[in-house]
Amino acid sequence: MKPKRDLHTPNDVDFLVNTFYERVRSDVMLGPVFNERIQPDAWPVHLERMTQFWSNLLFAIPGYKGSPLLKHIGLPVGAEHFERWLELWESTVNDHFEGDVAMAALTKARNIAEVFQEKLLNNTFQVVPLTDTNHAQRSL
Ligand code: HEM
Repeated sequence: MKPKRDLHTPNDVDFLVNTFYERVRSDVMLGPVFNERIQPDAWPVHLERMTQFWSNLLFAIPGYKGSPLLKHIGLPVGAEHFERWLELWESTVNDHFEGDVAMAALTKARNIAEVFQEKLLNNTFQVVPLTDTNHAQRSL
């Protein structure tokens, strides 16, 4: 195995995202949920968006625009799916990277998963119409 290093560039993020979703798509629990929602020809777009999302979170590189929480409404998932998602994210990050940015990737994923679970599983999200004034505050 190659020696591990930290994430430094969007190319590293691209590698991480692609490796992670290869594992997700072949996972017994998560694979069907993703493959049901994302058709085979839509995967390249999803992967590109995820690379932009993480490049924005980790390196403040602009590019990602969206409302991730809304995309998850109605998915047939429970706490066990989030646990598995985090397990795969953590093992993918740890298999290939180590350092401050890798650590941030783990912490941010855990925090977002917690917010998603709280809002989606308890149905406590509110759909707020997007306006110029609230757009900047709405990162999730
Ligand atoms: C149970 C765990 C999860 C499942 C099953 C899941 C599933 C999905 C699916 C199916 C999509 C595509 C939606 C669509 O395009 O119609 C998606 C998009 C996305 N997911 Fe997740 N997800 C999970 C957890 C997470 C977590 C923890 C994060 C963040 C750390 C995340 C971030 C995103 C983002 C950024 C998008 C793209 C939204 C967009 O198109 O702008 N997901 N997810």
